[in-house]
Amino acid sequence: MARIGVETTLSELAARLRRRADGHSGRFILGIAGPPGAGKSTLARGVRDELNAAAGAELAEVAPMDGFHLSNARLRAAGDLARKGEPDTFDAAAYVATLRALRDTPPGRPVPWPTYSRELHEPVPGGVVFEAHPIIITEGNYLLLADDAAPGWSAVRPLLDETWYLDVPRPVIEQRLVRRHIRGGRTPEAAKTKVAQSDLLNARLVEATRARADLVLRKSGRNYKIV
Ligand SMILES: Nc1ncnc2c1ncn2[C@@H]1O[C@H](COP(=O)(O)OP(=O)(O)OP(=O)(O)O)[C@@H](O)[C@H]1O
Ligand SMILES: [Mg+2]
Repeated sequence: MARIGVETTLSELAARLRRRADGHSGRFILGIAGPPGAGKSTLARGVRDELNAAAGAELAEVAPMDGFHLSNARLRAAGDLARKGEPDTFDAAAYVATLRALRDTPPGRPVPWPTYSRELHEPVPGGVVFEAHPIIITEGNYLLLADDAAPGWSAVRPLLDETWYLDVPRPVIEQRLVRRHIRGGRTPEAAKTKVAQSDLLNARLVEATRARADLVLRKSGRNYKIV
């Protein structure tokens, strides 16, 4: 059992995932949820790399929820471009269907999965293709959302074999997101407005889902603390 307050390393987290996945029939799907800018993608890649290095084989791969962003053209046509990032600006139904396909497809048969390009600011169809991978790490903001927050998302949780929530203090994500928007081309003022009027509202929705996770983690130096 995970013990509250204990620090754990990336390699211990990878070993925990490996233990859970071994002996599981079919693909094992870990979900990592958390607010925007929490470091979910970084954690997912870190656990994948540790697990694969320890196994000496490509057992795990990341399946980003971000790949299911609606295209900018579609958001623009609906007048929703400024709201990009909110739960209904993703194709939750397609995310659920593709997760289910990944569970149901025998390892070895390819399952294409979209990724998200931070350069193009658009989803990339088939950005990753799952083949043998018996362990999938899917990560994103809204994995643990209930339908009263936004329709469609509650179908995700039953498809996950384990869920982790990456917790992070508000001021930390605020600063990270402002910096990222500036790197993405916004003026400092526009970046602050986007964070205050959009990202932090999304963060609040996500924070309300924390109690649904099997394990809550917070970055602590080079390690993660179980909180
Ligand atoms: N532990 C960390 N310490 C410091 N910076 C970090 C840490 N983890 C991630 N970052 C930085 O914070 C930013 C967000 O990280 P990352 O992209 O992993 O977050 P995310 O939760 O996937 O965000 P999003 O919800 O927007 O996809 C990145 O610039 C990353 O380099
Ligand atoms: Mg991410």
